Amino acid sequence: MTTESGTSQAPRPVGVAVLGHGTVGAEVVRIIRDDATDLEARIGAPLELRGVAVRTVSEDRGIPVELLTTDAESLIARDDVDIVVEVIGGIDLPRKLVRAALDAGKSVVTANKALLAEYTGELAEAAEAKHVDLYFEAAVAGAIPVIRPLTQSLAGDRVNRVIGIVNGTTNYILSAMDETGADYAEALAEAGRLGYAEADPTADVEGFDAASKAAILASIAFHTRVTAGDVYREGISKISAADLTSARALNCNVKLLAICERITTDDGKDKVSARVYPALVPREHPLASVSGAFNAVVVEAEASGRLMFYGQGAGGAPTASAVMGDLVMAARNRVQGGRGPRESKYADLEIAPMSEIVTRYYVNLQVADRAGVLSAVAAEFAKRGVSISAVRQEGAGNGARLVVLTHRATDEALSSTVAALDELESVTAVTSVLRLEGSAE
Ligand code: HSE
Repeated sequence: MTTESGTSQAPRPVGVAVLGHGTVGAEVVRIIRDDATDLEARIGAPLELRGVAVRTVSEDRGIPVELLTTDAESLIARDDVDIVVEVIGGIDLPRKLVRAALDAGKSVVTANKALLAEYTGELAEAAEAKHVDLYFEAAVAGAIPVIRPLTQSLAGDRVNRVIGIVNGTTNYILSAMDETGADYAEALAEAGRLGYAEADPTADVEGFDAASKAAILASIAFHTRVTAGDVYREGISKISAADLTSARALNCNVKLLAICERITTDDGKDKVSARVYPALVPREHPLASVSGAFNAVVVEAEASGRLMFYGQGAGGAPTASAVMGDLVMAARNRVQGGRGPRESKYADLEIAPMSEIVTRYYVNLQVADRAGVLSAVAAEFAKRGVSISAVRQEGAGNGARLVVLTHRATDEALSSTVAALDELESVTAVTSVLRLEGSAE
């Protein structure tokens, strides 16, 4: 920096407070300290760690104990803190702390999808009031750049669809079921042993984690506030080894998908659909081959066509990579003046109910193996205008099963067909119902 008298002046350092020192926080702190020279060159000023807020101060954390504090609020309030990194997790405490930081004019970088899926509106307004940045690349799909591509690279395009595998735990489980023939409980237990599944896996396996991410993706892709409560959600806990076998026979894989879509109703109105459920995906679709704990997001936009982003969606270092990207951007903005993109909600589209969504269904029925059963089953589809694309019988006699694949129809027509099938005398049980995504028919 050059002063009026022409002498050079060292740029003012950018002060950072990190809230949380778990797997992500520890990695963020390590990078800030180990890569200080490179970070300074990229930012144009030194990035200085002012402190790390933790639940308990301990000398075992591998950082000078004087950097640690249990008083997050005082750390945030320090005059020499410009940017606050929130990697605590949970909702209530981070909401309070992030809010305090924004209200005090500090930029915030957070990896907290659950917080954002509920409170982006409130936090974005607080950021707006103080003209500071609120960045959250790490909240969706870990290391994979997807927030910045949607908010910046594609800012001049029209996004129609974002479809992704955004939960590594469930992708690990479904991949293991596909590759080894394991049933759900065995694959979940293995995921737990390997550290992919948490002791209480509900948030992952029932789709809550993916629904939070879908809310964030839908909000930024369609310039509309979408919260977790707007996202239709089903998890994977009812998926059976038999579903994977049937999927294979149909040349499909089963994936937990987060789908964010612009739909146009018959009267020409644009709406947003955000939904999470396990679905059959044709093996030739790029998401079908994403296996193990990896994540991938496919974006379809008017001018760009289909784009795919793939990589590690969780873990300390990959998530820290995304946090650091945001931190460098926020720090550059501090040094150069200005801000990154603010919340964009101008389109304010209506949320489409699930009943209006057009999909294809896979229905697996346990049936009596006698003449007339197939026509009775087919009649229920026909009555509701649902066209069948393929039927397969698996087994015979008491073990007979019918697998029906439909063409596209509204979810309302499909779900009422399934309810009617359940009532048929010749249908012993509707064993499973899955949607089929990623195919044109
Ligand atoms: N639990 C998530 C997953 C990672 O399994 O992908 C954090 O969002």
